[in-house]
Amino acid sequence: MSGSPDPEELLRIAAAAASEAGRLLASWRGDERPEVVETKSSPTDVVTEMDRKSEALITRRIRAHRPADAVLGEEGGQTDGGPGGDEGGDGQDRVRWIVDPLDGTVNYLYGLHDWAVSIAAEVDGTVVAGVVEVPRRGETFTAAAGHGAWLQRGEARLALHCPAGVPLGQALVGTGFGYDAGRRQVQGEVVAALLPHVRDIRRGGSAAVDLCSVAAGRLDAFYERGLNYWDFAAGGLIAREAGATVGGLAGKAESTSLTVAAGPGLYQQLEAFLARLNPERDASRNQGRDA
Ligand code: IPD
Ligand code: CA
Ligand code: CA
Repeated sequence: MSGSPDPEELLRIAAAAASEAGRLLASWRGDERPEVVETKSSPTDVVTEMDRKSEALITRRIRAHRPADAVLGEEGGQTDGGPGGDEGGDGQDRVRWIVDPLDGTVNYLYGLHDWAVSIAAEVDGTVVAGVVEVPRRGETFTAAAGHGAWLQRGEARLALHCPAGVPLGQALVGTGFGYDAGRRQVQGEVVAALLPHVRDIRRGGSAAVDLCSVAAGRLDAFYERGLNYWDFAAGGLIAREAGATVGGLAGKAESTSLTVAAGPGLYQQLEAFLARLNPERDASRNQGRDA
C-alpha cells in the first residue's frame, strides 16, 4: 500500500502526454488555417479539429497509465475513470487531471507562436503537478509541488525564479481578454486605467504561457478576469513554485472571477490597484456592443 500519489510521477505522465500532443499540434504546418468545427461562448471563441484531437490523445495517454482517474478537459468536460478505484491504495480515485489541449487557439489559427498544451494533476482538489508545453518555442515549463519550477529548452534545464520587489511603475504586465463583448468592455476600462501606472502592457494570447512568463521573469505580473480552471491550473502552480504570488483579490484564491500572478511585493501593489477598479464585473452585452 502506498500513500498519496507522487507529484513527480504524475508530472512525468503529464509531461509525456503534453509533449506528444505538442508534436501533434505542431505537425500542422499552416498552409491553410485548421478548420473551425465549432464556436463556444461567442463567434470568435472557436474550437478546431486540432483542439479535439489533442484532447483525445492526452486523455488516452493519461488513461493508459491511470485508468481510474477523472479527467476534466476543456473540450470533453469531466469524465470519470473506469473501475479500479482505490483498492490498491495508490490513490487513483483521488486524482483529477485538468487539461487545456490547446491554450491560445487564436494564436494557433493565425500562425503565431504563443500557444501551449496545459496539463495539471490535482490530488484531493489541490494541484500538485503541472506542465505547459510551448512547441513553437521548443520550451517545456514544469512544476511539482515542493520541487520548484523548471524550464526545459533542448538539453538545458533551468530553475525558474520570479523576481521580487519590482515596483508597479516599472512592471511589465500581461493580461488577456475574454470572448464576450460585455466582459471586454470592462476589461478595456481596467487596462486603460492601469496603463499609465506601469512600464507597459502585453497581451500574449495564452494565459498558460503568460503565467509561465511570470515564473521566468519575462513578465513581471499577469492578471485576467474570466479564465477557466484549465487555463490557470498548471501555469498557476509553475508561477507559485517559481516564487510568485498567485491569487485573487482580498486574499481570495485565483479563480475564474480573477487570477493575478506577480512576484512578492508587486502582487500586493497590483492587487490593491485592481481592487479599486472593481474588475470582477461585466457590462451588459448591449453596452459592450454599442460602446
Ligand atoms: C484563451 C487564452 C487567452 C485568454 C482567454 C482564454 P483558449 O484560451 O488563454 O489568452 O485571454 O481568456 O480563453 O480559448 O485559447 O484555450
Ligand atoms: Ca485556454
Ligand atoms: Ca483551449
